[in-house]
Amino acid sequence: MSDPWLRTLDADWLEAVERIEALGQPAPWSRVQLMGALTDPRGSVWGVGMGEPAREGLCGFAVLARQPFDAELQTITVVPGGRRRGLAGRLVMALIDQARGWGSERLLLEVRASNQAALALYRRSGFRDDGVRRGYYPPLGGCGAREDAVLMSFPLAACHD
Ligand SMILES: CC(C)(COP(=O)(O)OP(=O)(O)OC[C@H]1O[C@@H](n2cnc3c(N)ncnc32)[C@H](O)[C@@H]1OP(=O)(O)O)[C@@H](O)C(=O)NCCC(=O)NCCS
Repeated sequence: MSDPWLRTLDADWLEAVERIEALGQPAPWSRVQLMGALTDPRGSVWGVGMGEPAREGLCGFAVLARQPFDAELQTITVVPGGRRRGLAGRLVMALIDQARGWGSERLLLEVRASNQAALALYRRSGFRDDGVRRGYYPPLGGCGAREDAVLMSFPLAACHD
């Protein structure tokens, strides 16, 4: 089997990204949010896939936003049938490279405290836990208690002590 491909995505990929989001996210972004990410000049969207680097082969994507000093990993999704093959790990590495290229000091993210797969992915990718934001997320499915966010970061800038 060929190696997975990685590439940045633009507005032409909206339908493919929407498909991945609907299949893979318990709380999917809307079409408007996805289009906003795909066309935002201050950020980038990376896709990973198998086979030809075309819409049908897209298996996952991640959204990176550029802030004044840091970059933020805003969302990452891999289709259920493509999981545990290292695809999200490749996406995270691409985001780290991109943020480093921007000169960002850190790559930041927030993740639901119950999301064991994502927490394991980020810790394995070198992110450290920075703290917890209590009750940050509304409950999945709309009922029940609000959920904590775990705040994580990946240092990018060299230390200048
Ligand atoms: C989280 C998610 C992106 C991981 O995608 P993936 O392609 O399966 O991840 P990878 O195969 O690259 O996994 C890399 C490492 O992360 C950890 N990991 C990933 N999924 C895991 C799981 N379900 N349980 C435990 N560890 C897991 C493992 O350490 C794994 O390495 P290993 O397979 O060699 O043990 C995927 O499960 C997903 O799309 N979930 C729904 C959306 C979501 O929760 N996104 C994150 C918040 S926006």
